[in-house]
Amino acid sequence: MTRVLLVDDEENLRLALRTYLRKQGYDVVAVGNVDEALSQCAEEAFDFVVTDVRMPGKTGLELLSILREQHPATTVIVMSAYGSIEHALEAIRAGAYDYVSKPFKPEELAFVLRKAEEREVLRRENRQLRAALHREASFEELLGRSEPMKSLFATLAKVAPFKTTVLITGESGTGKELVARALHLRSPRAQKAFVTINCGAIPEALLESELFGHKRGAFTDALSDKRGLFEAADGGTLLLDEVGELPTSLQVKLLRVLQEQTFRRLGETHDRKCDVRVLAATLRDLHADVKTGRFREDLLYRLNVLTLVVPPLRERREDISLLVDHFVQRYNKRLGTKVTGLDPQASKIVEEYNWPGNVRELENSIERAMVLADAPVLRPLDLPEKLREPKDPVAAELAKGDLSIKRTARVIEEILIRRALDKTKGNRTRAAELLEISHRALLYKIKEYGIT
Ligand SMILES: Nc1ncnc2c1ncn2[C@@H]1O[C@H](COP(=O)(O)OP(=O)(O)OP(=O)(O)O)[C@@H](O)[C@H]1O
Ligand SMILES: [Mg+2]
Repeated sequence: MTRVLLVDDEENLRLALRTYLRKQGYDVVAVGNVDEALSQCAEEAFDFVVTDVRMPGKTGLELLSILREQHPATTVIVMSAYGSIEHALEAIRAGAYDYVSKPFKPEELAFVLRKAEEREVLRRENRQLRAALHREASFEELLGRSEPMKSLFATLAKVAPFKTTVLITGESGTGKELVARALHLRSPRAQKAFVTINCGAIPEALLESELFGHKRGAFTDALSDKRGLFEAADGGTLLLDEVGELPTSLQVKLLRVLQEQTFRRLGETHDRKCDVRVLAATLRDLHADVKTGRFREDLLYRLNVLTLVVPPLRERREDISLLVDHFVQRYNKRLGTKVTGLDPQASKIVEEYNWPGNVRELENSIERAMVLADAPVLRPLDLPEKLREPKDPVAAELAKGDLSIKRTARVIEEILIRRALDKTKGNRTRAAELLEISHRALLYKIKEYGIT
């Protein structure tokens, strides 16, 4: 049954409307002021709040603004006195669905309610359709054809259906959040909420109430009861991003939720149950943080029942061109451009660059190039300057991440010999001196590396 809360200080009108709306099949509660209205709303959810504007105490407009914030799903309809059309308009601007001017026939209000109900049904269908579309779109968004990504996908598919906690690690911009989303979308929870919180971005004092909610009066600013994210994610998935930033006091509380599936709102004395799959992401080395006492060992063991490591982009260069095409398409849509791709030189630069900021840096570079480019094909000059700087060849070699001393030493040796020969304009005796090797050894190496 549709639930309506009527707020008006005029008792006769209030009772008459209540009787009328009940006959129309609504479930109606009627109260005489804003404070009573707010405590009703804290107790149960209403589909509609129909409120007078001018009342002793808080006004209907104040009620409206609190409801928009705390109960955004509730539709508000304002009853404004004859002649105060500004109030009505102000209410609409502030987010009221509609208004009726007093005096009105009860049928007028019933008509507005019916209209709003129909709109609600449409909106809900719309939301579901959009969510379904979004799910399909983002399903394919985690791209990769490199071996490291293929094996990541394989593990992901295996663990997704279970409620197991997963720790997702990787450098900044590698796609940790996307991996978390993929885990959610491939789980039986896909239809329920996927909620993320960045533990590093919220001040410590607010974090606990964000996560677990609070009771009205639990602290100075707690003006009403508030649900936390564990409740918002009930039945679904909660991603704790930058989990390494979680203060120690909350680490204990998190451990408790993970172990017992219960938590307490701040200021409450009873436990609440929740059914939430927790995922955690971090770019920190939590094992090192355990050693320094920054992170609780027991929590780390609880979180990393399974760890997914998202590899840095430089270790999966086969993915670069795939991602470039993907981002070119994405930003053509967003920017309305008609870019077809990169010219061979620009492609080479993009494929050889080290990408310390990983996929995010690649995405930003492509977007920037598309904004700046004059032609449909992106050229080296359109790319950020950083990408075009000639690399120190030794640093580039080291950055490849190959740990073999033998292979790396050979490459660096060749670089040094070429430099010495350059500097001495090909004088081998002098070059051997600079390199601090014998003349004979130099001749041998020149032949070995095919230097002319
Ligand atoms: N494999 C991928 N396929 C397509 N897009 C990707 C992929 N990996 C990352 N992206 C895109 O790169 C950007 C950064 O990804 P995301 O936010 O998931 O990274 P992150 O690891 O969480 O970064 P941070 O550590 O900075 O929080 C996003 O726009 C994301 O859509
Ligand atoms: Mg992230």
